Amino acid sequence: MGFQLPEQPEAFTDEIAALTERHLNPGLAKVLRFAGLGVEWYAEGCYIWDAQGRKFLDCLGGYGMFALGHRHPKVLEAVKRQLDLMPMPSKIMFNAPQARLAARLAEKLPGDLQYTFFCNSGAEAVEGALKLARKGTGRVKFITTRGSYHGKTLGSLSASGREVYRQPFEPLVPGFVHVPFGDADAVAAHIDNETAAVIVEPIQGEGGIRTPPDDYLPRLRELCDRYSALLIADEVQTGLGRTGRWWGVDHSGVQPDIVTLAKSLGGGILPIGSFSANETLWHAMFGENPLLHTSTFGGNELACAAGLATLQVIEEEGLVENAREIGNYLLKGLQQVQAEYPDFIQEVRGRGLMIGIEFHEADYGELTITNMIQRGVIAAYTLNNPKVIRMEPPLILTRAQAEFALQVFAESVSAARELVHAVNA
Ligand SMILES: Cc1ncc(COP(=O)(O)O)c(C=O)c1O
Repeated sequence: MGFQLPEQPEAFTDEIAALTERHLNPGLAKVLRFAGLGVEWYAEGCYIWDAQGRKFLDCLGGYGMFALGHRHPKVLEAVKRQLDLMPMPSKIMFNAPQARLAARLAEKLPGDLQYTFFCNSGAEAVEGALKLARKGTGRVKFITTRGSYHGKTLGSLSASGREVYRQPFEPLVPGFVHVPFGDADAVAAHIDNETAAVIVEPIQGEGGIRTPPDDYLPRLRELCDRYSALLIADEVQTGLGRTGRWWGVDHSGVQPDIVTLAKSLGGGILPIGSFSANETLWHAMFGENPLLHTSTFGGNELACAAGLATLQVIEEEGLVENAREIGNYLLKGLQQVQAEYPDFIQEVRGRGLMIGIEFHEADYGELTITNMIQRGVIAAYTLNNPKVIRMEPPLILTRAQAEFALQVFAESVSAARELVHAVNA
């Protein structure tokens, strides 16, 4: 280990857990303690070490944020360089990293999405996209999908599709119709000349890594065109190579009108989100008042420098291809484990390094996660579907690391299943 642990690791861990319980979130602190998790201390590549020096292979990847793994040297270097120049924007002058990142995204994004607004999170990106759709169409109706996850601010939560997060905060923003994911007929039944936009994740992430039928996005595109509604692709989780293509929409070749990004864009080093669209929409939003939508931190030099380095690393290191190749290997391996324990695991599915493992019961998944953590692999369930464990490791994952994850997963499933059988006997 090339780093120092805290002086009294046990006492330090107890202290931080107690502070978390007292000052942050008592319920979450209990869950973390129960799962045997300690205090995160150091991270590099695909690994995290806790304050007790235990090493974990990160197969959760911060909900998909660590495409480049932890502390990628090239992103670190770019950020350190920018830190010594100017980390935060004056907001009154031209900003070079922001302008360059917008230009790079315009080259990479599908179609003519030439303009980008930078913010600080996925939820903010979705908020901006919804406002842009309202302003660009003069309409206020949105079609969204059940099980979707677009964030937890009021607007993005209105688009999100899980009651447990929505109901306590109702009434939410009016005008959102929720239809089943993957069902273009359901969209057809609700879309009309008052619809501003259909918002959709190309693959539902928190909904349980759900891949729609091949004709789903093309049909949504057609429907949007027919009613002059916009198609918003929420690529916060699927974007930037996660699914083995640059964009989740690339699997269908569909060109959305608005794309939202966040998570991996900051290279796992800084928070950044964005929404992008074409010139016509941008003119509708910012034509009369260039300050109609703003953010103090949004577009800050530090985050944009990280974003630029991130795009470069994805390209230079062939991470999209690696996600596809290692993803296929992992998917096949996990499917073999499923075939061995069909009474325990219902299905393994996904694309690239965005893989979901659906258990018959949420408890089975939870027990498996606890066993994986004990054996040195971090995993977690999807927020809107607790029956599904997600595997979203860094896109730099090697074959040997994937093999280790598979071996630990197989052992953990076996141990969890034995426990369930013993309890039920
Ligand atoms: C598809 C999608 N959109 C939006 C969000 C919200 O992003 P954030 O947590 O950065 O607000 C998420 C987060 O998981 C997401 O998966």
